[in-house]
Amino acid sequence: MAKIISGKEISQSIKEQLKEKVASFETKFGRKISLAVILVGENPASKVYVKNKILSTEYVGMKSLAYYLPENSTEEQVIELVKTLSSDNSVDGILVQLPLPKHLSENNILKHIAPEKDVDGFLPENVGKLLLGQESTIACTPFGVIKMLEYEGIDLEGKSAVVVGRSNIVGKPMAMLLLQKNCTVTICHSKTKNLKEVCSSADVLVAAIGRPKFITEDMVKDGAVVIDVGINRTEAGLVGDVDYEYVSKKASFITPVPGGVGPMTIAMLLENTYLSALRREDNGI
Ligand code: GUN
Repeated sequence: MAKIISGKEISQSIKEQLKEKVASFETKFGRKISLAVILVGENPASKVYVKNKILSTEYVGMKSLAYYLPENSTEEQVIELVKTLSSDNSVDGILVQLPLPKHLSENNILKHIAPEKDVDGFLPENVGKLLLGQESTIACTPFGVIKMLEYEGIDLEGKSAVVVGRSNIVGKPMAMLLLQKNCTVTICHSKTKNLKEVCSSADVLVAAIGRPKFITEDMVKDGAVVIDVGINRTEAGLVGDVDYEYVSKKASFITPVPGGVGPMTIAMLLENTYLSALRREDNGI
């Protein structure tokens, strides 16, 4: 049976450490760290995520600014708000909750976030720096996965890592981070021909496909470390991308859904906000 990597437990420990770091920041610089969250429209899942982000922001002692814009907001209206927050010196981080309503262009809006306040690590400046191995803000979900692997003391050096999924938010930055850890990295996607063989060769398998129970036992090597990034809402409740019941019998480590990668994402958002605030003080911006 695999050891369960508890994102719930690890994220709690990160948040407790952050509480202390945030308090020290306030004493040193005489101001609160603040995170602005923008939600456009009524997507029910997004509403839950945003509420949890706000509660966690306050829990670690940061100031939370929440902006709820109506579904029919124009691109100009959202951009106006993003620009105002970008030039507001008291704001350290800006998060635009995705997905946006269909009539709004993600790129057109996100590009107005000041790169030093891009706590999601979505902007080309941050993605480019990650690729080049320079200090940058790393997208919260893959950053959280790396923290979990570090927390469990899992040695990544020279290991074969397979990432299933090539999204800009998870798959691509995940692959980059594993490469930085000296893994031999393969990225698989919907057009990959011999998916089962490639997955079966992985010492570390990261599933970020968005299909319930897609990774089955026959796709996993004995003793592999299996990280499940999927959060699929099914009639049976929240289900990951990994067929947990059977895969957990084969893996050495596995993340559950819920209680795995999910809670880590919020903890890393707060860590990124703290790091952004520190960098802004250090660079005088
Ligand atoms: N929607 C789903 N995940 C995320 C995330 O990490 N950041 C933002 N901004 N929106 C999301």
